[in-house]
Amino acid sequence: MRPARFIAVVSTVIITGLTQSAVSPGRCETMSAAKSSETIQLPEPRYDGDVSVEHALRMRRSVRSYKDDPLNLSEISQILWSAQGIASRRRYRTAPSAGALYPLEVYVIAGNVKSLSPAIFKYNPHNHTLVKMLAGDMRFELSRAALNQGAIKKAPAVLLFCAVYERTTGKYGRRGIRYVDMEVGHAAQNVCLQAIAMGLKTAVIGAFRDAEVKNIAKPADDEHPLYFVPVGR
Ligand SMILES: Cc1cc2nc3c(=O)[nH]c(=O)nc-3n(C[C@H](O)[C@H](O)[C@H](O)COP(=O)(O)O)c2cc1C
Repeated sequence: MRPARFIAVVSTVIITGLTQSAVSPGRCETMSAAKSSETIQLPEPRYDGDVSVEHALRMRRSVRSYKDDPLNLSEISQILWSAQGIASRRRYRTAPSAGALYPLEVYVIAGNVKSLSPAIFKYNPHNHTLVKMLAGDMRFELSRAALNQGAIKKAPAVLLFCAVYERTTGKYGRRGIRYVDMEVGHAAQNVCLQAIAMGLKTAVIGAFRDAEVKNIAKPADDEHPLYFVPVGR
């Protein structure tokens, strides 16, 4: 089944002074930033496809250059759902998470996406929306912070995975650090395989200067950048 797709720019939403509080899959997670002014409802993702897991596994390669073609909002929706989307009635997600504590936050650095202005958006899995956090095309600056890796400035969109370690270390102590680091691998692999199933290309990028990325992308103070995943054609 392919549910109707739609785009709705939800009326201007000012989110102020809320704190991160995701602790259980059923509980509504709030967004921590106080900067957002626009929420975009993403089209519903597909829950089936024509490409086998085996084919996606065989075809997955890190690709670091892309055509100068835009992505569309349905593609962004699908990619984000694969990364951290809700996948069950009980609000479990597409990637496993120790204790279902969900420490990952996913940002989209949009540069060339139809229906999205160049900006940094934060994904909210609970209602499958994007919240605009920072206006402007930040790919060039982020590429510099990632040791001038061209994939980040050439991709029409780049995911940035950040983690709030305390969500997991609060329950598991020091061991929670390793759990969070494992989780970002699960989520990024989902994106790589989903991209192949859609005819898109990705790479995973872990080499960057953390402080510079934080300065440019301005995630919440407790969110630590872990991985870039550029996505393109
Ligand atoms: C933790 C991690 C960090 C990585 N960081 C980078 C990076 O900063 N830049 C890059 O171009 N590739 C990066 N890669 C991708 C590897 O270079 C790539 O996976 C490897 O060359 C194997 O190629 P394949 O992904 O096509 O199988 C990283 C991979 C992993 C798992």
